[in-house]
Amino acid sequence: MKHIAVLTSGGDAPGMNACIRAVVRTAVYKGIQVTGVIAGYEGLINGDFRKLDSTSVGNIIQKGGTMLKTARSDRFRTAEGRLTAMENIRKQGIDGLVVIGGDGSFRGADILATEFPEVRVICIPGTIDNDLYGTDFTIGYDTAINTVVDAVDNIRDTASSHNRLFFVEVMGRDAGLIALRSGIACGAEAILIPETKTHIDKLIAQLERGWKRQKSGHVIIVAEGDDAGGAFKIAEIVQQKFDKLETKVCILGHIQRGGNPSCMDRVLATRLGYEAVCGLLDGKNRMMAGQVAGKVSFIPLEKAVKHNIDVNATILEIAEIMSL
Ligand code: F6P
Repeated sequence: MKHIAVLTSGGDAPGMNACIRAVVRTAVYKGIQVTGVIAGYEGLINGDFRKLDSTSVGNIIQKGGTMLKTARSDRFRTAEGRLTAMENIRKQGIDGLVVIGGDGSFRGADILATEFPEVRVICIPGTIDNDLYGTDFTIGYDTAINTVVDAVDNIRDTASSHNRLFFVEVMGRDAGLIALRSGIACGAEAILIPETKTHIDKLIAQLERGWKRQKSGHVIIVAEGDDAGGAFKIAEIVQQKFDKLETKVCILGHIQRGGNPSCMDRVLATRLGYEAVCGLLDGKNRMMAGQVAGKVSFIPLEKAVKHNIDVNATILEIAEIMSL
């Protein structure tokens, strides 16, 4: 392996820059040429490449976003798009690819390396959702949940002062892990996630219980993918059945994706960036470099993207008990 490329794909996540830096510096250290691809798979198709060296990745470890830009590419889903991408890869003489992204990006990488075995790929989990199998944490998740916790603490102040009921919607269209963890940390009265069925009557009963014991302010965390249809919809339904408290809705949205990465995300990103390059040099292909119980582990991409992340039943129970 003489020349690798690195790209970021899908939704950005804090820590992606730290990861790019680690990939580049490890490659330089190992004597391999390294190229950055601009805007993920779109850049592969457009032939948008930048030569990178240790200096090009200086002073970025602390920055959110991604210096390589990112995109969700519909063209890469087509065989024609992937063929164009491969032609550009060949022209550059690239023989290894590091993809930092989430499940959609992993699927794209897996298909490319299956169709064109001359290029090997290693993926690194970079998404705020933490919804990949085979790693305890994805890069960006820790920063995102801390952003949510800060925001909800602020909301709690005003909710208590006015005795209001807040529905706070957090990201996670398929996964409720941001909602669950931040909800526990913020002492949410309820946490609604896509992995469990939302029962409005149960929610009303919880609110009645809190109201009877004169709780000052209620905060309910709603994952955007919850089956009851999002924070505005649930708030409307609840307000009709429970009018003792004034209801407000706050959608945290994309502020969850920005900001300087936490220490944990920087270290995770650095470690996985290093391991991905070492993995390529060891001959690994179509794998994700993740971290499980503090140890680096490689698993096949097809397993990493399985959307069967079980929500820990005890964590769910704890969340419920704590909201009493
Ligand atoms: O996958 C990361 C994520 O932030 C999800 O939590 C969210 O549903 C989605 O991306 C939003 O994507 P976009 O920025 O393209 O609207």
